[in-house]
Amino acid sequence: LFGFKTNKVSGYFEPIEPSSADELILPKGFKYDVVAAYNDIINPAGDTFGFNNDFTLYFPINGSNERGLLWVNHEYSSEVFVHGEKKGGKYTAEQIKQMLYVQGGSIIEVYRDANGVWKLDPTSKYGRRVTGLTPFELTGPARGSKAVNNATKVQGTFANCSGGMTLWNTVLSCEENYEGTSADAGLDATHYGWVVEVDPFDPSFAVRKHTALGRFHHENAAVGLAKDGRVVVYMGDDTTDACVYKFVSKGKYNPSAGRSNSDLLKEGTLYAADMKSGKWIALTIEAVTKALKDEKFKIPSSVKATKEELLAKYKEQADVLVNTPEVANLLGATPTDRPEDLEISPFDNTIFIAHTNNDKHGNIHGHITRFFEKGSDLGATEFDFEIFAAGGRQSGFSAPDNLTFDSNGNLWTVTDISSSKLGKGVYTTFQNNGVFVIPTHGSNKGEALQFASAPIEAEMTGPWFTPDERTLFMAVQHPGEETSDLKKPTSKWPHRKGDTMPRPAVVAISGFKL
Ligand code: FEO
Ligand code: CA
Ligand code: CA
Ligand code: CA
Repeated sequence: LFGFKTNKVSGYFEPIEPSSADELILPKGFKYDVVAAYNDIINPAGDTFGFNNDFTLYFPINGSNERGLLWVNHEYSSEVFVHGEKKGGKYTAEQIKQMLYVQGGSIIEVYRDANGVWKLDPTSKYGRRVTGLTPFELTGPARGSKAVNNATKVQGTFANCSGGMTLWNTVLSCEENYEGTSADAGLDATHYGWVVEVDPFDPSFAVRKHTALGRFHHENAAVGLAKDGRVVVYMGDDTTDACVYKFVSKGKYNPSAGRSNSDLLKEGTLYAADMKSGKWIALTIEAVTKALKDEKFKIPSSVKATKEELLAKYKEQADVLVNTPEVANLLGATPTDRPEDLEISPFDNTIFIAHTNNDKHGNIHGHITRFFEKGSDLGATEFDFEIFAAGGRQSGFSAPDNLTFDSNGNLWTVTDISSSKLGKGVYTTFQNNGVFVIPTHGSNKGEALQFASAPIEAEMTGPWFTPDERTLFMAVQHPGEETSDLKKPTSKWPHRKGDTMPRPAVVAISGFKL
């Protein structure tokens, strides 16, 4: 048997082989249920499930592992499958509305029925959508600032990639590649690229964007606590040669204060990692001004502006937050190979970062980096790091993306080889994208074993376990992404009766046994 203990209730699994089949393949003894697919009705009002699902987060209802709310991100729309082509070089108002509606997030109520099948409850009183049309509040230093054109409220969220869970039972959803939709819809680009917070149980909790956490191509947000009780949020900027960030709140977490802890995300220090010195650099207006006024300070080649231009641009903290990557480069943070998901190990407070790849530097298959904070304190300003696992033929994975931990310290890693490259050239042996399980301690440490193979051109995203770890939710994103002619889709997963096109869908995987 080649398997190993995967989590506290699982026993063993036998790793699968890579596959190019148009199916979600799991190890022997495991099964999946399609819980919600694109355009399914999610509530009595007739709202529908969005497109290209990514991050998932299960919130138990009354502590249940068999009924809860699932938050699901919707990352992007599609000309072929959703909103259609431009007419006369432009999208119509109706197309733009549709493009904005299918992005954002869905809150769906899910349950396991008497036959052990996971289903969506379309009669749910909780089921609702948060979309590119929903009004949002801005919080933090950039709220109402010139840098966001004086906005205190903004329209909608989109490009929602991965996310995280706060310590106070709300969801953080991350706006990643927002430029396309904001340009198509004629919206102010400075209102996107933020971390968004939603309470899935309570529509009266104003949905908000926390500007103190900076603006970039946010992949996810991993929340933890410093030794002194301040809240820490680790974040990646999924861009070639981009930095790793963390936010440390000014105030301290108060478990009895519940959801009002959300205010902690309004004020604090945003840091970027300098991997040469092992120091977290505080991104403050004071640091920017001090550097620019220093005669000996040399502007790094990655920043395309003169000292005079920068002095005119950076006047207050809002300017720093709206232009986070430029400030990180200016102050000497280290460019890295597309940091996607980050997770804090529940065992030792080390931080795992999926550096997916960077073809500019010949890092074709990517790697997983591990940060060790000084004194194992997430609030530390110094750290050390190692390359925990490298992608490639030997490890069997390429392009690590979303991560999650099980309670035995296994790192669940999905892969995201671009659809256009799948099964070709140096990507041939990997075949379709997959899900891998990598122990972070013990004798198999660092050894990746394949748990799932995705349908054609899909990426397995958003892995999230129920608290009892008997169910693993995942979102199958962009099956048949390379389709150019709706009559000839490259995938038809999930192969629903009567369907002529593929549908991104959330699945519940079960089979983890005592
Ligand atoms: Fe949306 Fe970086 O993945
Ligand atoms: Ca991703
Ligand atoms: Ca990716
Ligand atoms: Ca993707």
